Amino acid sequence: MTDSPSTAVVADGKAIADDIRSQIADEVTSLVEAGHRPPHLTVVLVGDNPASLSYIKGKQRACTRVGFSSSEADLPEDTDMSTLLAVIDRLNEDDGVDGILVQLPLPSGLSADAVALAIDPAKDVDGLHPVNAGKLMAGQPGLYACTPLGIMEVLDRHKVALKGAQAVVIGRSNIVGKPISMLLQQRHATVTMCHSRTRDIAALCREADVVVAATGVARMVKADWIRPGATVIDVGVSVIDGKLVGDIDLEGVSKVAGLVTPPRGGVGPLTITMLLKNTLQAYRDRKGL
Ligand code: GUN
Repeated sequence: MTDSPSTAVVADGKAIADDIRSQIADEVTSLVEAGHRPPHLTVVLVGDNPASLSYIKGKQRACTRVGFSSSEADLPEDTDMSTLLAVIDRLNEDDGVDGILVQLPLPSGLSADAVALAIDPAKDVDGLHPVNAGKLMAGQPGLYACTPLGIMEVLDRHKVALKGAQAVVIGRSNIVGKPISMLLQQRHATVTMCHSRTRDIAALCREADVVVAATGVARMVKADWIRPGATVIDVGVSVIDGKLVGDIDLEGVSKVAGLVTPPRGGVGPLTITMLLKNTLQAYRDRKGL
């Protein structure tokens, strides 16, 4: 018998995303056939960060494909906080807008925390308002952050057992690390939250059934950190020598793990899909439909 290295299943985030998006499109068709307007997402962009421009193009395209309407509020780089808050206020008041997303990062001098607080929680499709973050923490229904919701879709589609599992989350951001830790804990995993000051992350990962890496440090998670057969979810996106690279050393980790997500076509398509799902949820909740 040859001693061939084990090879992880590589999750196909795009296929899962396509499946969910077609369900969303069917729901929109039914709503429109019943005489309702389609859900509407407004994306606010301050400045012209090239990565942000590309992300929001993807979000608008995704809206169109499922039958949502969408719009963009483009503000100059030198926009001040009171102008940005006035734009958000106008969108909060506009009954034709169901979801508001202010693209991050914001130019320096503008406060992402103040923006999160200004968005009507009922339209907060990023799940960043403290009311929604608090609902997640309390286990109450609300709008939750999109990337963590997308990660749960990957885990569920691949039937990853979470009850009693050891999960290690690397990164403690409001948009990924904290909310994914809460969602995993709700599903009865024992969650260890690691960050830049954690001692010996490698040793903690070696005990884990599920590792979620969300740091933005390229290829940080090595093969010898991973328990054979573990699930490794890669949220990070870095560009190294023109190539998209995640937070895990994919080549090495794939030889040890049972399931991995790739930097392209992994968690990314699901983040946008969960944005669509949140927008539909916000629309239904606001309209009582
Ligand atoms: N920038 C990168 N990802 C995201 C996201 O999910 N939401 C927002 N608002 N900005 C981002």
